[in-house]
Amino acid sequence: MRNVVLAVSVLFTVLLAGDPVTGDSLRRGYNGLAATPPMGWNNYNAYGLDFTEELVRQTADAMVSTGLRDAGYQFVNLDDGWMAATRDADGNLRADPARFPSGIAALADYVHARGLKLGVYQDAGLKTCGGLPGSLGHERADATMLASWGVDYLKYDNCYAGPGCDQISCPDGTAAPAQDRYAVMRDALLATGRPIVFSICSWGTENVASWAAGYGNLWRTTGDISTTYTSMLSIFEQTVGLSASAGPHGWNDPDMLQIGNGMTVIEDRTELSLWAMLAAPLITGTDLVSATPETLALLTNAAVIAVDQDPLGRAATLVTAADGLNVLARPLSGGDVAVALFNETDSPATITTNLSAVGVAAGNHTRTDLWSGAATSSAGPIEATVPAHGTVLYRID
Ligand code: GLA
Repeated sequence: MRNVVLAVSVLFTVLLAGDPVTGDSLRRGYNGLAATPPMGWNNYNAYGLDFTEELVRQTADAMVSTGLRDAGYQFVNLDDGWMAATRDADGNLRADPARFPSGIAALADYVHARGLKLGVYQDAGLKTCGGLPGSLGHERADATMLASWGVDYLKYDNCYAGPGCDQISCPDGTAAPAQDRYAVMRDALLATGRPIVFSICSWGTENVASWAAGYGNLWRTTGDISTTYTSMLSIFEQTVGLSASAGPHGWNDPDMLQIGNGMTVIEDRTELSLWAMLAAPLITGTDLVSATPETLALLTNAAVIAVDQDPLGRAATLVTAADGLNVLARPLSGGDVAVALFNETDSPATITTNLSAVGVAAGNHTRTDLWSGAATSSAGPIEATVPAHGTVLYRID
């Protein structure tokens, strides 16, 4: 184990010393995880901080029985709320004894036995956003504890970032920069020798997308998503300009999916389409135990997931966005291109683009509508009538 740790740190140091060091080499040299965007479930959007180990076990079972696991959803992530209000007498983290009586190691075993992985939440400050003990000053011990429990993923939040800070803001000079605090936990996780995906949750502040490759495997680009089309649209708009920062092992994170939580089916489909175009992590935030067949079918659309998980890892850029009629294009491995026609307006509209605008050579190509499955061959314009808030998603060969 020590040798592995040493080799990882040497590799990391060599890459950091390289000149010039690009974002890509940093990403490649980091922990080697998340070659494609992580996929899984998290309790927060559906349950907030109030959830139990029983729900987590039921969710893991549901991920298997509904086909989500086999569609690629791998992580079962516990958000804020899993911890006890205080550390134990030795300063160790512990699970809430009433809601997680079996402890995290037992839950990890349960999840692993079903071919899934377990994630937990902590915070790069003095307290979590929900007021539970944070990891600032305890990074090494906490990382060791999580690794010993068999944790595979850490979402690391940014509340109460230093003395004098409140939940989300700090008077000048009262907190170390996020970059420094996240580096301490990154190094603590690496030192455990256990592969642990590291999710930076600093809400897009301090230009996180400009430095986070090499610090974590994904980084939030915005504040929290809510269950509305407007919130989803605003997060999309804040994230799409950051696509150059994303790539294998390091992804922009526009927050967890709200599919199934109250938007219309057209809006739900738009969310999965846009997140797939952005090469975003797909962490469903819905109640999988009682999800409708429609929600489950939407979440497991293999053709859309294949765009998200494309090994080239190039996130989409906007081709045009005039009058709220958006065209996005994303090159895929093997030479295919994914194209999204997204109508953000409140009325149906025809959206048109052409092959050269989306980076496809002139000539006949098969275009497959990834939601209807219909395929046509054409050399002409790419055009569709798109419902209000809707997205038509094509794969062009
Ligand atoms: C912050 C994060 C959310 C969630 C909550 C939990 O708001 O951005 O994703 O983790 O904290 O308290």
